[in-house]
Amino acid sequence: MQISISNTMEEASALAAKLIEDAVRKNPFTVLGLATGSTPLPLYAELVKACKEGLDFSRVRSFNLDEYYGLAPDHPQSYHYFMNENLFSKINIDLKNTRVPDGLAKDVPAFCKAYEEEMKAAGGVDIQVLGIGSDGHIGFNEPGSSPVSRTRLVSLTHSTIVDNTRFFANEAEVPRQAISMGIGTVMEARSCLLLAFGKNKAKAVKGMVEGGISQFCPASFLQMHASAYVFLDEDAASELQLKDYYKEIGAAR
Ligand code: F6R
Repeated sequence: MQISISNTMEEASALAAKLIEDAVRKNPFTVLGLATGSTPLPLYAELVKACKEGLDFSRVRSFNLDEYYGLAPDHPQSYHYFMNENLFSKINIDLKNTRVPDGLAKDVPAFCKAYEEEMKAAGGVDIQVLGIGSDGHIGFNEPGSSPVSRTRLVSLTHSTIVDNTRFFANEAEVPRQAISMGIGTVMEARSCLLLAFGKNKAKAVKGMVEGGISQFCPASFLQMHASAYVFLDEDAASELQLKDYYKEIGAAR
């Protein structure tokens, strides 16, 4: 894991965006794995800026990590809606090249199998963007998720439901299930870029970076990934035992 600690989330997001921009410049057919939630918003703002400055996304393909089960694509809290609002409508990506799991899939196992097959047929994900839940989830792989899990229907933990209530009118409206890429799926991406900001992520970040590799903190499986980059602000890094060391080697890079 390469740990990068910045003063602000904007600075951290600009560093992460640079890796994506360089990849797209080098390979216009880059396959991106994308996340939603509040964390990637400044990263997406950077990509929008890069596109305005001439970076071409027209041949980029994308697969989103997850979608709430039961929400239609036009539901304002669906991840389809989020992606259209915050990225797809603002860059020149071809919507035909974008995929978000179908929250209304009737035959969920068949849908999940097809999603995995489509990713494989696209050549696999080159760069996977990730946030982290306060319980250590990545995608919606909650504590207890198997390291070899694939795209499937998952049940959200109570803590995730509480965390995500801020996007809904009340807790009762938060969907209880989602379709999510599995840990095994995420681990196959050639690179993973995980971003985490704010004090409420500090404990999960500590578990991910310095804890034992365990299903109790699914993000800790990224310790086994050969190309995992972690971008933190000071608050999210605040509980790391080796924080000063990560900063020293970061400055030397
Ligand atoms: C969203 C996703 C989730 C979020 C995580 C953090 O597609 O996969 O794992 O990244 O729940 O959410 P925020 O960024 O809202 O704190």
